[in-house]
Amino acid sequence: SASAPVPARDPSFAQLTSDDVRFFQGVLGLGGVVTDDDLLAVANTDWMNKYHGKSKLLLRPRTTEQVSRVLAHCHERRLAVVPQGGNSGLVGGSVPLFDEVILNLGAMDRIVSFDEVSGILVCEAGCILEKVDAYLAERGFVFPLDLGAKGSCQIGGNISTNAGGLRLLRYGSLHGNVLGLEVVLADGTVVDTLKTLRKDNTGYDVKQLFVGGEGTLGVVTQAAILTPPKARAVNVALLACASFQDALTAFRLAKQELGEVLSAFEFFDRTCLDLVLKHHSAIRDPLPPEEDGAPPYPFYLLVETAGSNQEHDSAKWDAFLEAASAGEVVQNGTIAQDAGQAAGLWAIREGITESLAKNGVVYKYDFSLPVTDLYRLVEDTQQRIGPLGVAVGYGHLGDGNLHLNVSAPAYSDALRARLEPWVYEWTAQHRGSISAEHGLGQMKPHALRYSKADSAIELMASLKRLLDPRGILNPYKVLPDEADKRDAT
Ligand code: FAD
Ligand code: MLT
Ligand code: ZN
Repeated sequence: SASAPVPARDPSFAQLTSDDVRFFQGVLGLGGVVTDDDLLAVANTDWMNKYHGKSKLLLRPRTTEQVSRVLAHCHERRLAVVPQGGNSGLVGGSVPLFDEVILNLGAMDRIVSFDEVSGILVCEAGCILEKVDAYLAERGFVFPLDLGAKGSCQIGGNISTNAGGLRLLRYGSLHGNVLGLEVVLADGTVVDTLKTLRKDNTGYDVKQLFVGGEGTLGVVTQAAILTPPKARAVNVALLACASFQDALTAFRLAKQELGEVLSAFEFFDRTCLDLVLKHHSAIRDPLPPEEDGAPPYPFYLLVETAGSNQEHDSAKWDAFLEAASAGEVVQNGTIAQDAGQAAGLWAIREGITESLAKNGVVYKYDFSLPVTDLYRLVEDTQQRIGPLGVAVGYGHLGDGNLHLNVSAPAYSDALRARLEPWVYEWTAQHRGSISAEHGLGQMKPHALRYSKADSAIELMASLKRLLDPRGILNPYKVLPDEADKRDAT
């Protein structure tokens, strides 16, 4: 099977009635209440086509007040709700398990304000990341987050997953860049922490609960985000290494020589590149082996700098490349000569996810690990699964984040039993995290104990009970079953 055992539908949740639908139509208008089978099929299915819900109702509010009235009704009636953004999440968090109502924020896509001095943006949760980034680019700024799903994912979804992505190394996580949030709690209460200040030590920083809350504690409706200026000098290189050890040495050299302008340090193995070449006919191997018949390079690095002065950055690159080639740390490389070539190199890295999806089914893992151990997990996994699948590794090496993916022709109990819980145990033994950036969703609640102490899980469960006493928000997700005790009153 695809995933861990599925829990049973919680019988304490109400079933949707025609009175409920009429109520929602009164609040949202006919256009905001979707019952069309084809549209529901899309909203019930996750990006990987791995998780399938059975919701009969999709709601599309346009205002915070509408979100509040919808949730107050669901709370009163005990109707379970799944908040949904661009539905690009990779852990089944954005789709229902059963008949939960889907609350999609996509129609709330206004930019509210932008301060060109401070770089602070306020926007609604349904804004698509790529559109916000384009808006900022016109004004000389960038969004502090970038990721392959930028064309469909929404700011509210990014915040709710605390997405990491390709620029975290430089700009840090959304825990730092989100300055304020407007959130609607399960009972419809609107919590306003929408401050646009860098500093605000006025007691507990409650907005942080919703950054990475995966829609289980509240619905994000607006956000204030600190955005950095757009770099005038951007340089991108793809480098090939003969071993993972060399890739680590290159990382050390990059930090030393490129210093403060280093903006991305990504890696992928040869199998990833082969998959991208197989599934993207327009992409060519940018670094074919220098001699005919020589074996392909086993590891690739995508290194980016973003600075304010090309001359200054070129000098840094010269120093870095000299140091890297001196010890044959890097075997081969190509530096993009213009923005088009840079985009071409990024397309390889960002194309891995889709190539894996096209190649068959995929078991996706997302670990934080000490960098020195990071690739050994891929090798150990391949050894463990033998011919049942192909293990590949890629990810945000600069952040110690490995994406271990196992590609196979079909989901099978035999393969999953080889992988789990073994991969989680391996991670726990190395004091890693079972989710660096994708979250827990419905895929990993049962595995949470491998990287979080019982005392911390109990505190999470207490917060859940406090903020959502009837457990209507994104049930069956994030918290392990036994910790997710609802208030029966
Ligand atoms: P959804 O998938 O719709 O939802 C994700 C979770 O957030 C769900 O639990 C949902 O209930 C909740 N949610 C959504 N909106 C709200 C809201 N307004 N209020 C409360 N809860 C809400 N992730 C990374 O971290 N780094 C990457 O580099 C990265 N690359 C990706 C590349 C591809 C090609 C794809 C398909 C995914 C990638 N992801 C990556 C996964 C990532 O989590 C999502 O792309 C993104 O952050 C989710 O945004 P979304 O709007 O699609 O949210
Ligand atoms: C990435 O880094 O490419 C994303 O997190 C998506 C994935 O893990 O496939
Ligand atoms: Zn990633």
